Amino acid sequence: MNDLAGRVAIVTGAARGVGAAIVRDLIARGVRVVAADNGASIDGRTEDPALIAAFAAECGDAVVPLAQSVTAPGFADAAVALACERFGGLDIVVNNAAILRDAFLFKGNRADFEAVIATDLTAAFDLLRAATPVLRENAKQARGGEPYGWGRIVTIGSTAALYGNYGQGAYASAKAGLFGLMRIAALDMARSGVTSNMIAPFAASRVTETIVPATPAQAIYKAAALSIPPAPIGRFTSYLCSARAQHITGQVFGVRGRETFVFSQPRPLARATTAPDPSLDDLAALVDSQFAPHFTALETDLDAFSTTPVL
Ligand SMILES: NC(=O)c1ccc[n+]([C@@H]2O[C@H](COP(=O)([O-])OP(=O)(O)OC[C@H]3O[C@@H](n4cnc5c(N)ncnc54)[C@H](O)[C@@H]3O)[C@@H](O)[C@H]2O)c1
Repeated sequence: MNDLAGRVAIVTGAARGVGAAIVRDLIARGVRVVAADNGASIDGRTEDPALIAAFAAECGDAVVPLAQSVTAPGFADAAVALACERFGGLDIVVNNAAILRDAFLFKGNRADFEAVIATDLTAAFDLLRAATPVLRENAKQARGGEPYGWGRIVTIGSTAALYGNYGQGAYASAKAGLFGLMRIAALDMARSGVTSNMIAPFAASRVTETIVPATPAQAIYKAAALSIPPAPIGRFTSYLCSARAQHITGQVFGVRGRETFVFSQPRPLARATTAPDPSLDDLAALVDSQFAPHFTALETDLDAFSTTPVL
């Protein structure tokens, strides 16, 4: 059974890389897609609207292009309206568009930080703000029949937020914000049967090409990452959007070639009760003896994933 046929999706950052792989897998299953992409340079400073037009033309009637920036005023409402007018509704939202402006904290500037947050995080919130009323109404109207189980939100995150990496203060902050947004979407939309999950992808793209290895392990990571196709991320997105994943929500997955990961989420690992009015020595003794065994190593995502990918 192909339960995705006839569904309608909005995918941002759809013109290339991971976003294009997601669109390709969805349309192969009969999903129709509003493919949003302004053809941004990797730092978001320039745009090329021809890119998404060419990609949509290659995909055929199942894809309608939207070349507006996700940060443009009115973008989110326009994308939702386009899905409803052109394809008769909306079932799936994939927030994938992102830019990077890496800089060590001591060389960063506020304008670059805010540009990354605006594109990678605020625009994702705004699309959910515009789309979730439609997804809730779908549930009330039992779009697709009873029991309703179709609304899907997929957020493309990054291990840069879960581990951290040198100079990625803006990008990691935005992606960490997306983690919180993904969890809230899972909670706020649970009663409507709408699921919300995150995928941390690994694939060859412009993003991978920009990696400047800081350690031998990171050089190994980069060389391996440049060999990983984005198609498996598209496939896992389609799985999350299918009826088979109706019970999966609030989770963080990773997809790297044929490897699929589920990530832990921060929860207390240990609990200790202090004496009343503890001294700093008391706190030091408590932390060193009871918490230190649970500490998280200060390793980057590039170090952690420098193992050979399975392709
Ligand atoms: N490739 C990887 O290994 C990797 C690793 C971690 C996270 N990611 C994430 O995967 C997603 C896709 O990245 P990718 O690797 O395919 O990179 P990419 O740069 O090839 O794709 C990003 C797309 O987003 C578009 N975009 C950027 N700003 C936009 C805006 N304001 N409006 C509309 N579109 C905009 C770009 O034009 C581009 O087509 C991103 O969220 C990225 O952070 C990728």
